[in-house]
Amino acid sequence: MRAPATLESLGLLRLHHIGIAVADLDAAIDRAGGVVEVRAELPDQGVVAAAVRVGASELEFVTPLGESPAIRRFLERRGDGLHHLAWEVADVGDTLARAAAAGLRLIDTEPRTGLHGVPIAFLHPSAAGGVLTELVQQTPAHT
Ligand code: CO
Repeated sequence: MRAPATLESLGLLRLHHIGIAVADLDAAIDRAGGVVEVRAELPDQGVVAAAVRVGASELEFVTPLGESPAIRRFLERRGDGLHHLAWEVADVGDTLARAAAAGLRLIDTEPRTGLHGVPIAFLHPSAAGGVLTELVQQTPAHT
């Protein structure tokens, strides 16, 4: 029997941002204050997202893009609230491979490009105690 994978054994380095689903992106940004670092439509994820720096940390607000069901279903069931935790890793592809080898359920089998223009990928909530988990490739700007 293989050893169970721990989050640390996957190479998770530190929290990169906290993802929050919201029905009204502008209202959420206004409530947060802080600096909007980037705001963009992410068609492959079916969301519009905005990264807002508050103190030393980053919140990422996500809202449905057009008729996309992705976040819409979440909002209909649960309303605004915590959606995912994003962890910085040295190499998203490498972490995905480790997670797959450990038998963890993945949402993405290959990295894709995230809000900050760097590789990201999602692990299924069952891989991390019921929390949707995003991997974000570490960049020099964040170290
Ligand atoms: Co995110």
